[in-house]
Amino acid sequence: MCGIVGVLGDHEVSPLILDALKRLEYRGYDSAGIATVNHGKLDRRRAVGKLINLSDTLVHDPLPGRVGIGHTRWATHGGPSVANAHPHRAGRVAVVHNGIIENFRALREELTAQGAEFSSETDTETIVQLTSQYLEQGMTPVQAARAALKRLEGAFALAFVFDGEEDLIICARRGSPLCIGHGEGEMYLGSDAIALADMTDRITYLEEGDWAILSRAGAQIFDENDHQTARPMTRINVETARVDKAGHRHFMAKEMAEQPAVLKAAMGFYAGQEDNRIELPDSVDFKSVDRLIMVACGTAFYACQVAKYWFEKYAGLAVELDIASEFRYRDPVLGPSNMALFVSQSGETADTLAALRHVRPHVAQVLSVVNVPSSSIARESDVALPIHAGPEIGVASTKAFTAQLQVLAILALKAGLDRGFLSAESFAARLAELRTLPGFVAQALDREEEIRRMSEALAQARDVLFLGRGVMYPLALEGALKLKEISYIHAEAYAAGELKHGPIALIDTDLPVIVFAPYDALFDKTISNMQEVMARQGKVLLISDAKGLAEAGDVPFRLQMPTVPDFIAPIVYAVPAQLIAYHTALHRGTDVDQPRNLAKSVTVE
Ligand code: F6R
Repeated sequence: MCGIVGVLGDHEVSPLILDALKRLEYRGYDSAGIATVNHGKLDRRRAVGKLINLSDTLVHDPLPGRVGIGHTRWATHGGPSVANAHPHRAGRVAVVHNGIIENFRALREELTAQGAEFSSETDTETIVQLTSQYLEQGMTPVQAARAALKRLEGAFALAFVFDGEEDLIICARRGSPLCIGHGEGEMYLGSDAIALADMTDRITYLEEGDWAILSRAGAQIFDENDHQTARPMTRINVETARVDKAGHRHFMAKEMAEQPAVLKAAMGFYAGQEDNRIELPDSVDFKSVDRLIMVACGTAFYACQVAKYWFEKYAGLAVELDIASEFRYRDPVLGPSNMALFVSQSGETADTLAALRHVRPHVAQVLSVVNVPSSSIARESDVALPIHAGPEIGVASTKAFTAQLQVLAILALKAGLDRGFLSAESFAARLAELRTLPGFVAQALDREEEIRRMSEALAQARDVLFLGRGVMYPLALEGALKLKEISYIHAEAYAAGELKHGPIALIDTDLPVIVFAPYDALFDKTISNMQEVMARQGKVLLISDAKGLAEAGDVPFRLQMPTVPDFIAPIVYAVPAQLIAYHTALHRGTDVDQPRNLAKSVTVE
């Protein structure tokens, strides 16, 4: 959470920083701010709410300077207010921060006892107060920043600028991502390469514990032991890093529409169109794996939940599944023949990363399925398998979910082959089914107008219940999550068979119940549960295929999906789950791409 930017420029930097912050706004939008040094003088502007407010502030009160840092905030310590907005400043130093300083209370007490006056409720202000104190003691900016860094516990990506220093930014990374961009006589830094895409394609990713001194001449990078070190410079594809809505009203709409193309491209990457082979690194081998441990958060966790069914059914592989924030704080039993698999769109989710670090010494191999190949989770895995979905900007994950599912499906088939569980014929048949996905997903997207109309009624609901069985249960969970996060309607999902063990008490004439039930082996069971709801006047929307809708009889609301093979059904049924949430949110007038309280990249615990 929180996005940070720094520019040592040849011209005025505020417009560049503002532009880069726009590309980082997905990381948080509670407040934003910029600090620059101009004619030796440190100054800043800050505004509550979205970046547009900072932009307005800068129109009326410009901030000149050729060196500066910027921040877009997702509030942790202290609510959204100007006082809590970054950059924080004390004396001659200003800082932007992404992460959490865990020992900030002790530091604050210590500094207050020494006379420091705090003007915010943030953990970040302790960093500037500390640094300022060291400067007052006669240290140079580099010494002061370094001394302050040594006192900090927790997670951070930081950037410092100093009064009187127009060719200096100091930055540091521990637990939160940070990269340096190289320009012609200019230097940049940002929370991710996308932020810098309009300025440079030459990027150096800082490693855990690194800190760096930036000047227009270049970067001096030091490791956590203060040894000067060289980190490679890579070229990013700025075209893929550049993000716009491509004519769509929202990023979410664009990203949903991209799904057929994304799935096709990723399939091409992992399996050629013609043969029955899967292209995966040789080291991905499930032969001697006796248990697969899958860990993720949110939507990525639901992708794992679907994949559990696949690994069990097509590979006979025992799967253990957990939410990262729970997994890391229990004592999971791990062994040398276990494989661990982490799924994350951003590759930076703090809990998922911490869980990965926790299992690493105890298991045979660590795999990850990520969208950002340069991310921490990818870099810390033995093998990272990119989903090739391209930047996902809408806070609600859509194309990343279906692309994660596709890669997990491919992995499950590979596991089935490696373990001799899946015959060559079954393998070829399932692979052929995966190849049909883009077409089916496109057909599901074609139901949009119908879903838009149905969502009008849903937008009036206070609560919504989602039901599904088997692989459709995680889909129900995903549908409920999507609806909650962008429409703010309370939604819950239940395994359809579990309904009668409690939640059926909720059913009344006001409660819409959305049932995912393709005509598969569990169809009759799900429909029986749906009948139990209808017998209690629940308002049911059944999402099924032609056969299922015909068999189900009279149901108040029906949505017809294409008839798809069981194996790929969860990927196709993700589309109505997304579209229902999107159109319900539109009817309610909520902010689809930047829903309240959320951020795209969850880099705090
Ligand atoms: C929901 C959503 C979140 C993320 C979760 C994990 O639409 O996007 O639930 O799935 O925060 O994020 P990643 O996949 O980046 O680890």
